[in-house]
Amino acid sequence: MKKDFLLLSHYTREELLSLLALASELKEQRKNGEPHALLKGKTLGMIFEKASTRTRVSFEVGMYELGGSALFLSGSDIQLGRGEPIEDMARVLSRYLDGIMIRTFAQETADTLAKFATVPVINGLTDFAHPCQVLADLLTIQEHQGGLEGKTLCFIGDGNNMANSLIVGGIKVGMHVRVACPAAYRPDAGIMAWAEANGGFLCTEDVLASATGADVIYTDVWASMGQEEEAAKRRNAFAGYQVNEAVMAAAAPGAMVLHCLPAHRGEEITAEVLEAHANEIFDEAENRLHAQKAIMVHLMR
Ligand code: CP
Ligand code: NVA
Repeated sequence: MKKDFLLLSHYTREELLSLLALASELKEQRKNGEPHALLKGKTLGMIFEKASTRTRVSFEVGMYELGGSALFLSGSDIQLGRGEPIEDMARVLSRYLDGIMIRTFAQETADTLAKFATVPVINGLTDFAHPCQVLADLLTIQEHQGGLEGKTLCFIGDGNNMANSLIVGGIKVGMHVRVACPAAYRPDAGIMAWAEANGGFLCTEDVLASATGADVIYTDVWASMGQEEEAAKRRNAFAGYQVNEAVMAAAAPGAMVLHCLPAHRGEEITAEVLEAHANEIFDEAENRLHAQKAIMVHLMR
């Protein structure tokens, strides 16, 4: 049966750890200039219904480095944008491609694509989840903190796709996860219930309490793609939810900072904190490449 990469909740702890090990191995091979054309002659289609820098470039380069090729399919240029049903797109694209990555709005769109496609489907971000990003984040934490188990990650800001995926990914690999957000912007209720049942989870409005002693401080934009019209209202609601010097003073000594990017300096993070932790944040961006190569090898080889 074909496999997909739609949500981290579909993967076991062992599967996630083995993807991370494969990502590290591929990263090392690339660094040493060792060939690793594991997907020679294969083609990935990449459907984008939202903007992207990192996801698009890292998937395209990743596929090239694995010996295959990638096709950029802008949602507005393919017939999907003119109303062709996703069920039909799935069956058509499956006749040409070896895998499909999709960045879209509703999680249901990615799920339906996967249901009707006969080739693996990868979630490149939905309003609900961003699992590729979190695999890269876990790789970065492992590299900078020397491990994952028992480490505390504190996410400050909107309970959005990033928060949802970080909760699931973090808890699966044995981390403690805390989320500081306004009551009206909590992560998905089902994910929070799962996290509470699996231990090591806290959701609070108290930013400094959530940051206290944390090994990893994480933030993301206050208004995600598709929420542009709410930007002013959200700037108000999230005013106290900024990663700044006070947050870093509360965190554990040597705490790292991660941001999936793009960042809005002066909103969710100060320019000073971002620049002080630029090496971690840009390692994180680089790790998208290695993590996604591991996902593609796992699904498409
Ligand atoms: N972090 C991330 O997914 O970046 P892009 O939106 O640039 O792909
Ligand atoms: N929460 C952000 C993440 C961007 C990578 C968004 O969905 O726009």
